Amino acid sequence: MDKKTAMIFGVTGQDGSYLSELLLGKGYQVIGVTRRCSVNNTERLENCLPNANFVLCEGDVTDYPSTSGAMREYMPDECYNLAAQSHVGTSFKQPCYSLDVCAGGVLNVLESIRTINPTCRFYQASTSELFGNNHSETHDGITRYQDEDTALMPTSPYAIAKLAGHNFVKMYRDAYNIHASAGILFNHESERRGEKFVTRKITKWIGDFVAWLPPESNINDCMSQLPCMDTQLVFRDKEFYIPTIGNVANSPVFPKLRLGNLDAARDWGHAEDYVRMMWMMLQADKPDDYVIATGKTHTIKEFLEEAFAVVGISNWSDYVYIDPEFCRPSDVEYLCGHAGKAKKELGWEPRVNFKELVTRMVQHDIKSHA
Ligand code: NAP
Ligand code: GDD
Repeated sequence: MDKKTAMIFGVTGQDGSYLSELLLGKGYQVIGVTRRCSVNNTERLENCLPNANFVLCEGDVTDYPSTSGAMREYMPDECYNLAAQSHVGTSFKQPCYSLDVCAGGVLNVLESIRTINPTCRFYQASTSELFGNNHSETHDGITRYQDEDTALMPTSPYAIAKLAGHNFVKMYRDAYNIHASAGILFNHESERRGEKFVTRKITKWIGDFVAWLPPESNINDCMSQLPCMDTQLVFRDKEFYIPTIGNVANSPVFPKLRLGNLDAARDWGHAEDYVRMMWMMLQADKPDDYVIATGKTHTIKEFLEEAFAVVGISNWSDYVYIDPEFCRPSDVEYLCGHAGKAKKELGWEPRVNFKELVTRMVQHDIKSHA
């Protein structure tokens, strides 16, 4: 059988890199579409670049000539649209741009498929942000959850734009008979997560902090010295620094971890599990929309507790400064997905649990300094 070709918009992102590796492993030719960038942004693709089946092609989803041009040149069997301005906080600062990419971009790719390559199967990266602050009550013993029947009530420019993209998928499926599916994915993280998302921001800070401690220091000894800290310094710089600990070399202070809303709850899984489901959706006979989630939810505080515990710190709040800069005009407070449909119809289940996810991320960010 001929080798299949898959096109990925958003290939340089977290999910794009894992999906590329998955598809290359299955023998696909992978066409990764990337927009021009002033510096190299293919760091996450280092495992893919040497593979002769991996091709990078220039294009931007907001630019119809480039989406249609890529479609015409490669005529892929499958197309995954992961391209997005994916930071919810940023979408409040750049709402028009977020709308262009997250809504108009989907339309450009779908139109390219409809007019040039209508048998191409399409995957759209929809999101649990679509639910906003809505949830369903009780089902299968799970209380307060979101699934495919929960009404969508987006509360950010990002989510509103994603809802338009989500609706385009259904419309192209129904009106034009395109094999178009949307994955309503709950938060998924990894060692490759962007550094401005809360999980990676936390684990990266821990990695940097551990690297900053003197090499000979035992982290637990350092922590036990905290009661003896220089209180003057703590009060003067309480927004910016943790106190001097022992004989910390070179830098006498270290910036605190600055965060916003710590009470929000998220259903966090590992990106490797979630890209597997993207591929599974396009192998199904019928296109459809699926919630993808672990069914377990944790607050940011719980993530902090788990992450700091990996390096033996229990009093994590001493290292965190609440900065209004990172609070959003409106936030989604509670997400917990019910992925029963994906499990029943496609046999998908996540493999990485919360504790393993957090531990892997922290250990990775510590090792990155070695
Ligand atoms: P990410 O790391 O932010 O990656 C986004 C990708 O989109 C990057 O490759 C980026 O390219 C590309 N992109 C941005 N604007 C573009 C444009 N105008 N044209 C072409 N490419 C563009 O996001 P991710 O975490 O991998 O998420 C992948 C997708 O899933 C996104 O659509 C996101 O909204 C959605 N999603 C993510 C999650 C999650 O928890 N991770 C959950 C639900 C849905 P550059 O490298 O050039 O910036
Ligand atoms: N980014 C960030 N930075 N978030 C913070 C911070 C901070 O300093 N402090 C607290 N938070 C809170 C946010 O207010 C939010 O409630 C929660 O942490 C998670 O924020 P993010 O990690 O930025 O993720 P998100 O849930 O807003 O969006 C991610 O998941 C969506 C799926 O639900 C992104 O990957 C989206 O692209 C994705 O659609």
